[in-house]
Amino acid sequence: MASTDMQKENDGEKLTLSLQKEKSWAQPYPLYLFQDFWCPGIHIQAVDLFQQHFRAKQSDVVVASFPKSGTIWIKALAFAISNHQRFSLENHPLLTSNPHELVPFLEFTFGGGDIQAQILHLDNLAEPRIFGTHTPFPSLPTSTKESNCKIIYICRDPFDNFVSAWTYFNKVKPLSLTAVTQDEAFEMYCNGVIDYGPWWSHMLGYWNESVARPDKVMFLKYEDLKENTSFHVKKIGEFLGCPFTEEEEKNGVIEGIIKLCSFEKMKDLEVNKSGVIGRGSIEKKNFFRKGEKGDWVNYFTPPMVEKLSKVVEEKLSGSGLSFKKKFWDCWLVRVLPPTQRQSLWF
Ligand code: A3P
Repeated sequence: MASTDMQKENDGEKLTLSLQKEKSWAQPYPLYLFQDFWCPGIHIQAVDLFQQHFRAKQSDVVVASFPKSGTIWIKALAFAISNHQRFSLENHPLLTSNPHELVPFLEFTFGGGDIQAQILHLDNLAEPRIFGTHTPFPSLPTSTKESNCKIIYICRDPFDNFVSAWTYFNKVKPLSLTAVTQDEAFEMYCNGVIDYGPWWSHMLGYWNESVARPDKVMFLKYEDLKENTSFHVKKIGEFLGCPFTEEEEKNGVIEGIIKLCSFEKMKDLEVNKSGVIGRGSIEKKNFFRKGEKGDWVNYFTPPMVEKLSKVVEEKLSGSGLSFKKKFWDCWLVRVLPPTQRQSLWF
């Protein structure tokens, strides 16, 4: 191992020495309670470096999300919207690159190597620079919080978020590792123990900032985006300062972007079906599962519904943020066996 890598590993270990620790759902590394969030052990040093060295620009766009809330979708949309006058839909970078490649995670921009060279590289990227992050709002670098750069945040109904996380972690876990059981994962989720959790404080950090500074933070829910994508695409364009002209609307640019970034289209692209990403350990196909809202009815038992409903109510109460369910969403789960629930969904 090169001496700089060894130095980094030692620095990472030093950072975790006094931190509370929990096991991860399905990874060999533990989660550490770092700056009040459960940071995956392998990300702590990267988050620390990004906090210290990242210099935001006023024109930056940051796509923030709680994991398994539709990050890849909102990355694709933000990229396509902010570049809608630059790229034609027929020859678009999203057809040949995965959204995580086009909109890299800030946490991993200082992964290794020469920090000064990385800062220079980031400074020289074409503007607007678009980055993703799972880091909670209070832990973003000061320059990101205080500059006028724009933040688009996406979160998801915790019921579906749990199912998406549970199924995902099971797929990506190393073969040699036994994942926690669904019951254990559910218990941990209800206690906020999940990568970048607790999910409620993650959501509330961005929610409160979006209420205080709506011109800086745009807060989106996966369910709303799914229900009326066109409305939100227009809003994102306005928020980012690149609104669609009447002519563009008439010419179907918004519809084209929605189609390009749709679950069906993205899941089917060769660039998203094969290959790996990150440190080479995650297969890109794992970012696409069902892409629906309401899949939780196929996984939740009545006691689970009751328990998570209570946690959501308790943690979000008084904040103005809610994930309302229709009465019969919960009724269905009580009366139907799992095999019949999906067929009666809406
Ligand atoms: P499901 O597991 O419920 O299918 P993230 O990108 O934050 O990891 O979120 C992953 C979730 O977003 C998965 O949800 C995935 O299927 C869904 N997803 C991926 N691409 C999508 C798209 N273009 N539109 C809607 N949902 C999408």
